[in-house]
Amino acid sequence: MNALKIHEIPGRVTISSGNGGLPVIRVRSDFSTAEIYPHGAHVTGFQKHGEAPLLFMSAASEFRAETPIRGGVPVIFPWFGSRGGMVAHGFARLAEWDLVATSVLPLGSIKLSFQLPTEEPYRVTFDVTIGSSLIMALAVCNTGAAPFTFETCLHTYFQIGDIRQLRVAGLQGTRYHDQLLAADLTETADAIRFSAETDRTYQDTAATVAIIDPVLDRSMIVSKTGSKSTVVWNPWIAKSQRMPDFGDDEYLRMVCVESGNVSENAVTLAPGEESLLTVEVSSFPFTDPIGSRAG
Ligand code: BG6
Repeated sequence: MNALKIHEIPGRVTISSGNGGLPVIRVRSDFSTAEIYPHGAHVTGFQKHGEAPLLFMSAASEFRAETPIRGGVPVIFPWFGSRGGMVAHGFARLAEWDLVATSVLPLGSIKLSFQLPTEEPYRVTFDVTIGSSLIMALAVCNTGAAPFTFETCLHTYFQIGDIRQLRVAGLQGTRYHDQLLAADLTETADAIRFSAETDRTYQDTAATVAIIDPVLDRSMIVSKTGSKSTVVWNPWIAKSQRMPDFGDDEYLRMVCVESGNVSENAVTLAPGEESLLTVEVSSFPFTDPIGSRAG
């Protein structure tokens, strides 16, 4: 904790003991507030002044060194899903990341920089910029002598009014793997609507996605660079009940729109090469480009 405190900026960045006794970094920019745990370099909150939180956090989340936090933005690296019996979604979300710098940017945003401690022949940094939007940048550099292949994902949980009235637009015409049907399909709908468990990996897409929420009267926009995959997930009823760190009814108030490079879009870096994934999350008053109120 004391080592972290050197990065405090009075009135802007404070570091204290958070849930479960884990250190938490609280940030106040000119436009917004945010909360980040070095455990997983996990953004657990982002809220523009005068608006509802953009990120969903489960009230049942554990805050322990041994488990991932449920909600916010888990950083998924170096693999997505389960791999040969190893920890699901990689170890980055379980690691205690080093906070290496904090700064106030000229226009009143705050930037935090984290580094993943590792003995492996790669360097991973994660920058979080808190301003009128939330900007996250995950950089991976291959410092070894052999090619390095990995998957990444910024597994963002969004807070919404009601999943049954939500639309997720921007993926029409995109190929996806449906995990539940175990089938490869192409999105035909102008927007994804939800009436059951949904778990899809959209591939070869750099598209900006709009989360259109007529209940909270806002649209959230997810734009990205260095990402070819978008995962859309809602656990619905039965899976919510199976997850110990998730409330039975919480599926109604969240959706995950995850940006990264997974499965056939995994990244291979030559020795010395670096990749950069950026995701920007912003929000606007409700707009209805696809008639989502009509359903
Ligand atoms: C999603 C996956 O990205 O993450 C789902 O597509 C998975 O299959 C979900 O259930 C949550 O994973 P976890 O490991 O955080 O429970």
